[in-house]
Amino acid sequence: MTFRAPKGTDDILPPASRTWRRLLLMWEDWAARYGYDLVLLPFFETTEVFARGVGESTEVVQKQMYTFEDKGGRSLTLRPEGTASVVRAFLETGADGILKAAYSGAMFRYERPQAGRRRQFYQVGVEYLGSRAAAADAEVIELGYRYLTDAGVPGLSVLVNSIGDRVCRPAYLEVLKEYLKERRAVLCDDSLTRLESNPMRVLDCKVCAPRLSDAPSPVDHLCMECATHYDEVRAALRDMDVPYEEAPRLVRGLDYYERTAFEYVATDLETAQNAVGGGGRYDGLAELLGGKPVPGVGFALGLDRMVLTLFEVEELEPLDVYIVVAGDRRGDGAKLASNLRYEGIRTDLDVEGRSVKAQFRAADRRGAATALVVGDEWDDGRVVVKDLATGRQEVILKEEVAAWTRRT
Ligand code: HAM
Repeated sequence: MTFRAPKGTDDILPPASRTWRRLLLMWEDWAARYGYDLVLLPFFETTEVFARGVGESTEVVQKQMYTFEDKGGRSLTLRPEGTASVVRAFLETGADGILKAAYSGAMFRYERPQAGRRRQFYQVGVEYLGSRAAAADAEVIELGYRYLTDAGVPGLSVLVNSIGDRVCRPAYLEVLKEYLKERRAVLCDDSLTRLESNPMRVLDCKVCAPRLSDAPSPVDHLCMECATHYDEVRAALRDMDVPYEEAPRLVRGLDYYERTAFEYVATDLETAQNAVGGGGRYDGLAELLGGKPVPGVGFALGLDRMVLTLFEVEELEPLDVYIVVAGDRRGDGAKLASNLRYEGIRTDLDVEGRSVKAQFRAADRRGAATALVVGDEWDDGRVVVKDLATGRQEVILKEEVAAWTRRT
């Protein structure tokens, strides 16, 4: 019997994994440049964290959670996203002040699998907790934009909107409900159910949205504070030369958002799943989780979707050194490899006892800059070094190898 990876999951092996590695290394660099510190959180949480945080009436909570009971009878859920967990963790510390958190890792949603829509998928993201300032929203949006651009995602657009807050949204929802009631005939079953419980979600329905292009938009019903906040976010983005488009009907699929909502869209991506990332402000989330008020804003980017936009296969990371072992010198070769690796030099060698010729071919294939030949010279404390680009070759002392490698 052979096994296959579960439906909607992927094995990411070389060479494709090289792209992933590059994106993850770049992510750490960009998050650090903006002052975000790594957080590592559980892969599962008490189910209530997501039910309350993400929202009972969302697709994610209603249809997509991997929920199970553990042997102690607790209801747990594999994390479908990271924001609720970061806020839960922050509240648990009891700390005040600011937390700028960066995370990356697998998330789980029971979706109908297709390209860019997986049951296990990978997100990188940040959460800026403890500030209501529009400058925090703008910083977060800028970080995602700069990282995606540096990663090489083509055809990138930044869509922004404001969906109001607890003060102004109720009045907007009444206006929206009236509008939707008049169009019951064109709404799908899911939207008809949401019309009362969560009317804004109807604007996010793939089936109904195209028929509702003249729907009232939240941005036309903002209170003074929300309007000012939105003005400030857009002004800051212009100051930082982050190009954006206003998307008045962008509402996002999770319930915790207030004020700013945004998405990064790869317009070149030929799939319905062209949102490579999204985020927004969620000043009420901490209270939904039973905590004190903690404002926050953040985003998450989908690596699976980013990779779909990047067609080229990365080159193999070249080695600095390939050790070619002559005759019965395998033990000496292994010792030299161990020393060089300790010195931080990327080193590999053959362990199968293949011919010298085959080992040189392997050195070429692996893109090694230098071959070190461990032969009879070893007994005098020497090795042959060969620059594989120029063919230049000389015999040097073992102790000089690291310096020689770095020099070339
Ligand atoms: P989200 O829009 O649900 O937001 O997910 C963010 C990104 O994760 C999406 O734009 C997409 O690229 C990727 N993604 C989501 N679901 C899947 C899937 N099934 N397969 C592949 N990729 C997927 C959030 O998760 C929020 N927590 C973002 C956030 C952070 N808001 C504030 N802070």
